[in-house]
Amino acid sequence: MSAYADEHAPVIAAADGFFLIDTAGKKYLDGHSSLWCNIHGHRVPEIDAAIRQQLDRVSHSTLLGLGNTPSIELAEDLLQRVPSGLTRVFYADCGAAGVEVALKIAWQYHRQKPQPEPRELFACLTSAYHGDTVGTISLGDIDRFHSLFGGLMFPALRLPSPATPGLSLDECLTDTERLLSANAGRIAGVIMEPLVQAAAGIRVHPSGYLKRLREITQRLGILLIADEIAVGFGRLGTLFACEQEAVSPDILILSKGLTGGYLPLAATLTTEDIYTAFLGDPWAGKTFYHGHTYTGNPLACAAARASLRLIEDRDVLGNSRRIETVLQEHAATWRTLPHVAEVRHRGTMIGIEVQRDPATGTPFPPEQRRSHQLTLTCRERGVIVRNIGDVLVLMPAPAMPPSLVHQLAETVSAALRAVLR
Ligand SMILES: Cc1ncc(COP(=O)(O)O)c(C=O)c1O
Repeated sequence: MSAYADEHAPVIAAADGFFLIDTAGKKYLDGHSSLWCNIHGHRVPEIDAAIRQQLDRVSHSTLLGLGNTPSIELAEDLLQRVPSGLTRVFYADCGAAGVEVALKIAWQYHRQKPQPEPRELFACLTSAYHGDTVGTISLGDIDRFHSLFGGLMFPALRLPSPATPGLSLDECLTDTERLLSANAGRIAGVIMEPLVQAAAGIRVHPSGYLKRLREITQRLGILLIADEIAVGFGRLGTLFACEQEAVSPDILILSKGLTGGYLPLAATLTTEDIYTAFLGDPWAGKTFYHGHTYTGNPLACAAARASLRLIEDRDVLGNSRRIETVLQEHAATWRTLPHVAEVRHRGTMIGIEVQRDPATGTPFPPEQRRSHQLTLTCRERGVIVRNIGDVLVLMPAPAMPPSLVHQLAETVSAALRAVLR
């Protein structure tokens, strides 16, 4: 906080397309999608109009005991597009809350299914990130964010991430299967980020992992909970990451890009089997007691419907794949620069890890804040990106024109050369 206070970070007052504008009128290319949620740029006429039209009807009405039209329509839109087998939608108001919903649903499901079992353990991957609430940090595994709160968290089983350096896919799956089999009767669910662990510093999974994890969990009767909060809505070139390995999870969590990056909203989707376990007489005690005040907010749902329409009308998925090619070309150059230890890339997500000596894996001394200097240098040059520790993360909006992505990458190249020389 002391360093941040001295930094005089820009205060954003307006936006224009893919640019943010600060109170002094300086324009910045939004190179991290306003923390990974923006899909179509800012001030998109179609989304603005959808929110304005909804404002003329009703801004908020609760989903506790009532319905509201946009939340029902959005649920229908989502169910037409998500992997098959998911049939029910529960809303919350941010990613972490959507994950908490998933955990509580999984926990309660096992107690209410036809042969009830008190399963009390969740499994997650090493270097996982699922949010900042107490439940979600319990399933996180990034020391910087989580270690301080060890005593506050509930225990979880940690499975090796397939992105662990030096671990082959087969070794990872063998360990995973062993750990899951040994605890199968106790595990309420396995939660994971499909294809890319974003907050871990863009850790990319080898292809085939997701599909094989699905097979293992299915064989052992364990729920698979896919957290697509960061990777969904075109970020990896398909609407949902699970599609790329033809996987249908038991529970799917969506947020961030759900509203195009306009308003906070999360959706937790489940199978009919899970939903059915919550049915019964009102006095049977099967109610799912979880309700946020702004659950299913009509303005957010209207924005989400408009965003989904735009993803299709403007071929945002095709554009996302074009962005992947542009970033691939720049990544090849970045890999040759001194102090660049690794460039990890998939779709529109890219992480550039810098070290003092990549040959020995020696980091820069923390007081030099080199990767933060990269963030600041990019900012001076009109590009907003953000580092997580020693990793500079770029994440252009899936609809950003490739020419702007090129401009973003050129600025990052110049910053890498200036700060790491
Ligand atoms: C994979 C993943 N899950 C959950 C979250 C938490 O979402 P929110 O910040 O909306 O609570 C994030 C946020 O970065 C995320 O990347």
